[in-house]
Parts: sequence; C-alpha cells; structure tokens
Amino acid sequence: MQLPPALRQAIEEELIACDTAALRAASARLTECYRGTDASGLPAPAAFGNNALNSDAQRAAYLAVRLPATFAAVSAALAWTRERCEIEPRTVLDLGSGPGTALWAVAQLFPSLEAATAIERDPKLIEIARRLAARAAHSSLRQSAWLSGDLTATLPEGAWDLVVCSYALNELPQAQRAEFVRRAWARTSNLLVVIEPGTKVGFANILAVRTRLLAEGAILVAPCPNALACPMAAAEDWCHFAARVERTAEHRRLKGATLGHEDEKFSYVAFSRSALPDGTHSADARIVRHPRIFSGYTQLTLCREGEIAATTVTRSKKEDWRRLKRLGWGDRW
Ligand SMILES: C[S@@+](CC[C@H](N)C(=O)[O-])C[C@H]1O[C@@H](n2cnc3c(N)ncnc32)[C@H](O)[C@@H]1O
Repeated sequence: MQLPPALRQAIEEELIACDTAALRAASARLTECYRGTDASGLPAPAAFGNNALNSDAQRAAYLAVRLPATFAAVSAALAWTRERCEIEPRTVLDLGSGPGTALWAVAQLFPSLEAATAIERDPKLIEIARRLAARAAHSSLRQSAWLSGDLTATLPEGAWDLVVCSYALNELPQAQRAEFVRRAWARTSNLLVVIEPGTKVGFANILAVRTRLLAEGAILVAPCPNALACPMAAAEDWCHFAARVERTAEHRRLKGATLGHEDEKFSYVAFSRSALPDGTHSADARIVRHPRIFSGYTQLTLCREGEIAATTVTRSKKEDWRRLKRLGWGDRW
C-alpha cells in the first residue's frame, strides 16, 4: 500500500524543517509506544500515558512513521467492509482524526464522498491536518471541517453516512469508551468502522465494540462472517489482520530499517444500519491467518460458523485453487 502521491509530498514538506536527530528519537519513541504490547500481548513497559503526540517532534514523527501504517490499516478495513455492503458514502465523520489519515483513505476509496468532518483534541494536529488536506486532489478533503473537540464529551449534532474511529478508542479512558461507542453509533446513518492496533489489547477494545453494538441491534458487516460468539475470544486468541506498507527512504532511515516494507497489524469491526445486500450465509467464512502454501495444496485457517477451522485446498479443486490466487489473510472465503 502506498500513500496517495499528494499526501506523500505534503508530508515530505512538513518534515523538511525538522531536526533529523530529534525526528529520529521521536520516531523510535513512537514506534515503541504504538507497538503497545510486548510479544505476549501484555502492555509494553513503555506506557506513555494516553497522549503520545505531545510535542512537535512527536507529531512530525507520526507523519513519517505511523501515518503510512494507519492509512494502510484503515484502507484495508474499509476495502473489506465495502466488499460486503457496497456503500457509497457522501459524508464521513472521523473521530480522533489526528493528521486526517482516515479521511485520506476514505477519499481515495470512495469517489462518492462530498463532505468530510473531523474531530480532534490537539489544535496543532488540526493545523497539520489542514495543511496536508490543502494538497489533496479530492475537493471534499480540501474542504473538510476540522473540529476541535473531546471525544469523551458530546459529539456534534448530525448524522454521517460513514463514521470512522481509527487508532483513537484506545486513547480514551476505559470508563468512557462504552458511552463514546454509543454516541458514535448514534451519529452513524449507515456505517461505523472502528480500527485499533492488532494487539491483544486492541482486539479486546474491538470485541467490546462488537458486543455493545450487537446488543443495540446493529448489523455486523466485517470482518466477522456472522454474529455468533467470537471463537477467537473463546480461544483467548486475538483476531487481527495485516496491511503491507511501503516504506519511503526517509521512513527507512528514521526507523533504521533495511526492508522496503512493513506489515501493520490491526483489528477492526464494521457495523451497518442497513441489511447486507447478500445477507449472511451459513457458509460464509473469513481467512484469519496467512495461508500456508505447500506444493499442490494450501492450508487455510477460517473463521466460520462460530469456529476457527482449518481447511485444505488442493490443486485438484480447480475453482477454489484459482480463487485462492487472488486471496489472502483477511479476505472472505
Ligand atoms: C493514534 S492517533 C490516530 C490518528 C488518526 N486517526 C490515525 O489513524 O492516524 C489518536 C488520535 O486521537 C486523538 N484523541 C485521543 N483522545 C482524544 C479525545 N478525548 N478527544 C479527541 N481526540 C482524541 C489524539 O489526539 C490523536 O490525534
């Protein structure tokens, strides 16, 4: 996944004036912070409180090393969501918008977009978001309404076709998250998509959103193939996906990395107010791990009928074999 050229160029311009050493230090700190958990899924020792973007260097580092990853995650989550509900949103509300990452992803995926609204608490991030959006080709993005506000307070009046909350829920105080989700859903006229880091903690947040909105009667669109009890949670595992992010030379330099890409792990959930055009079928399934490819056969791990099940696709099943060429972790099966 690459950033839209206009966004990439706008970020480069933002970074020109930054001190390289400060940017490198801030990037290292941010990467550690947003990793969020150690390998066992426990909170990382480096808990930075709930505001990692508290200096100019941290904000600039976010543009350089985190925005490409969250852009890729939001784009992937929205693309998988769109496969199931074919929406054409005219309006979008981005909650905890930071530099406006999700709005760029929405504008790229949905040419139908006419008006964008963002809510963010940090006035400096709003300034940055405005400067970036001024370079966008999509007029709705250039004309976005950037509202300064607190997500734990009342949200602005109105209803939006698409409401997105990307990597922000985990920054709200635990006790206020349920009420925030209720309010976000109340502002949604069609689709709500929540994206979190692909860690145990991020997934727990997503699972809580899932439970709450199912209880409200919302229609689960993605990634779950049905609204049965989550088998990942039952197995004390965590449902997450990966989006490949292309690293620019600057991105590599700041991270001290050699690979030209990285895989951003994320968890997400999407809910709609409208019935899915194709309904849900008992045979619906989603690929929830990297397919394991062997000579002549591939093993898939599927979420299906309330279970995590392995299935083997052999070359002899011609249609499935052909289909598999286009599919991977995260796709519907
Ligand atoms: C990790 S950043 C994510 C930014 C952007 N959504 C993205 O995906 O790249 C989290 C953002 O949520 C904002 N945020 C956190 N708590 C907030 C609150 N109570 N009200 C408004 N914004 C908040 C932060 O200031 C920050 O910009």
